[in-house]
Amino acid sequence: MRFARRLLWGGLLGGGAYWFVRYLQPKHSTLVLNEKVVLITGASSGIGRALAFAFARRAARVVLVARNEERLETVRREIEPYTTDALVVPADITDDAQCQAVVDRTLEAFGRIDVLVNNAGLALGGPLQDQDADRMHQMLELNLWAAIRLTQLVLPHMLEHHHGYILNVGSSLGRVAAPVVAPYVASKYGLSGFSDALRRELAGTGVHVTLVQPSWTHTDMLNPDVEDVVERYGFQIDHPDAVAERAVLELVQGENEVILGGALVRLGVLTERYAPLLVRLYWRLRMTSEWVAAMGKMGQ
Ligand SMILES: NC(=O)c1ccc[n+]([C@@H]2O[C@H](COP(=O)([O-])OP(=O)(O)OC[C@H]3O[C@@H](n4cnc5c(N)ncnc54)[C@H](OP(=O)(O)O)[C@@H]3O)[C@@H](O)[C@H]2O)c1
Repeated sequence: MRFARRLLWGGLLGGGAYWFVRYLQPKHSTLVLNEKVVLITGASSGIGRALAFAFARRAARVVLVARNEERLETVRREIEPYTTDALVVPADITDDAQCQAVVDRTLEAFGRIDVLVNNAGLALGGPLQDQDADRMHQMLELNLWAAIRLTQLVLPHMLEHHHGYILNVGSSLGRVAAPVVAPYVASKYGLSGFSDALRRELAGTGVHVTLVQPSWTHTDMLNPDVEDVVERYGFQIDHPDAVAERAVLELVQGENEVILGGALVRLGVLTERYAPLLVRLYWRLRMTSEWVAAMGKMGQ
C-alpha cells in the first residue's frame, strides 16, 4: 500500500516536472510568413489545398505540387486574392527526377525555399493479406520515401542560409498502431521517426522540423462509408481548413509536434505511449467485422 502510494506520488511529481520543463523550453521559431517561399506537396486537394490557403492568407509565396495540373491551377486561381506569387509545378514526387525538378523550378522562380511541407499522401486499408502489393509499395514511396528525398534535396539550400522549416504532415496513426491499416501505420510511424531523428540531427543549424499529426479529416482520402463507421466509433472528423490553420499556427509557434483530432485520439496517443496494453485490449474489443470492412474501403 505504502509502495503504491509512493509510486503514485512519484509518477505525479515526475509527470508534473516533465510538463513544466517542456513548458519552459524555448520555442525555436519567430517565423513571419510574409513573402516566405512555401513548397507544398499534395496541394491539389484536401489538407494540402487548405494549407495553400492558410499560407497564402499570410502573404507567403506558395509552390503548389501534385500530379493533377488542372486541379493545381484551380487552387492557384482560388488563392489569387491573397497572393499572386503562386507557382504550379505538376509532378509525381515518387519519381526522383521529378522531385529534383520541383526543387530546381522553385529555386529558379524564387531563389529560395523557406518552408517545405511534406503533405502528399495516400491511405490504403484492409487485412494485410488482401492488400495489393504494388499499391502498398506506391503508398510507402509517397508517404515516407518522397518526404525523405524532398527534404534531402531542399536541405543543402536551407543549411547554407542557416534558415528553414520542414513541416511534415503525418497522422495520429503515426503514434497509435490501429489495426487493419498496418502498411499505412508503418508509413506514418516511419515519418514520425524520421521527423524526431532529423530534428535532433539539425539542432542548432537554424533548420527546424515540425510534425503535425492530423486525425480523421474530411477529404477525398475518406469515403462516406468510412466516415460513417469512424463517427460511430466515436472519432471526430475534422475539416481540412481547421487542420491547416492549426498546422500553420504550430509551425509559426515553433512546436515540435502536434496531435490533432478529438479527445479519444489524444487519449489513444497517450495510452499507446504509457500503457500500450490498454490499447491492445481496446482493439481486441473494437476490431469488429464492421471496422475491418470499413478499413478495406480506404483508398477505393
Ligand atoms: N484525411 C484524413 O483523414 C487524414 C488523416 C490523417 C493524416 N492525413 C494525411 O494528410 C495528408 C493529406 O491527405 P488528404 O486527406 O488531404 O488526402 P487527399 O485529399 O487525397 O490529398 C492527397 C494529395 O496528395 C497528392 N498526391 C497523391 N499522389 C501523389 C504523387 N505521387 N505525387 C505528388 N502528389 C501526389 C494528390 O494530388 P494528385 O492526385 O493530383 O497527385 C493530393 O493533392 C496525407 O499525408 C495523409 O496521410 C489525412
